[in-house]
Amino acid sequence: MSAYLADPLEFPTKHPEGFPVLKGEPVFDPTKHLQIEMPDTIISLKEFGYSEEDIAQCPCDFGITNVFRILSDEGAQCMLEVARMLEPYVKSNARISRNVRGGAYQSKFLRDLCQSQELTEAVSKICGSPMLPHTIPHQLGHMNYNPKEVGENVDKWHVDTLRIDFVMFVTDPNSVVGGEFEYYLGTKEEVAELKKAGKPLDPVKIKAPVLPGPGYAVLQQGNMVVHRAKGLTEPGERITMVNGYVPRDVSFPDYTRFDQLYLVDPEHMAASEYMRHVSWMGRELLDGQLKGFEFSSDKAQMADNFEKLSQMMATAAEQLRKADEAKIEHFGDG
Ligand SMILES: [Fe+2]
Repeated sequence: MSAYLADPLEFPTKHPEGFPVLKGEPVFDPTKHLQIEMPDTIISLKEFGYSEEDIAQCPCDFGITNVFRILSDEGAQCMLEVARMLEPYVKSNARISRNVRGGAYQSKFLRDLCQSQELTEAVSKICGSPMLPHTIPHQLGHMNYNPKEVGENVDKWHVDTLRIDFVMFVTDPNSVVGGEFEYYLGTKEEVAELKKAGKPLDPVKIKAPVLPGPGYAVLQQGNMVVHRAKGLTEPGERITMVNGYVPRDVSFPDYTRFDQLYLVDPEHMAASEYMRHVSWMGRELLDGQLKGFEFSSDKAQMADNFEKLSQMMATAAEQLRKADEAKIEHFGDG
């Protein structure tokens, strides 16, 4: 871990086409709408079965927390109102049949909640490492809505295209039948092998945290924890919100799966948002180098830093060029 902590990146000041701004929505007020209660149990990546080498590549060593509260009753009510206002903009992809991404451009309430300093501080404290709201706006405030068809899963088994995120219930999970959030207490490699062999997941390792109401969440290292959202077994309304974070320590390798984002986010935005995110990382890596300047004879270290930076840019360029060749990745329904 380097000592330098990156400065935040402002939300874009230019407004994209196709994302009309909501009118008449509630105004986010952290003093009224947040009621953060910290989780008391954290399941480590080690407990998921990850090796020391795997964990060393991650900004923190936790896998998932137990359920904790984020919103007050009033905050949850406002969040539900905003979620329903965004519902007409749902889109479909190969993994999720009804979701809204980019809602942070349309709703100031959602944007302010997702970028709230109090919430970011709580997330950082849980992670044991300073975090920032995700620098890709489409990774903020992702909303999932239950499919129209009863029984169809909201989202298939998968890992996320980012490192840290929370999954928060917007509707009351106890007002519906089914619709559980589940995670697998094993590694993503284990799940991939089971899928390849045509075998089902070990039912003993499937965990379904009990959420007491709307505004409650779990925080996870989403690219390491295989998870899914089950379908409702009776008609009802199930909405969740997922918010992403990036480590303030930009010396950790970026984990953006641009190839996957390009398949679900609008073409006129996905690449621009990714370019902006990688430019921010580059700026912060260089800034860290300049701000931490000291006379030194360690030219090998200086060369390493430049190689790391140029490697990151080269990888980003490759991701941009090859994005069209990808398919949406997931582990299916079983
Ligand atoms: Fe996810």
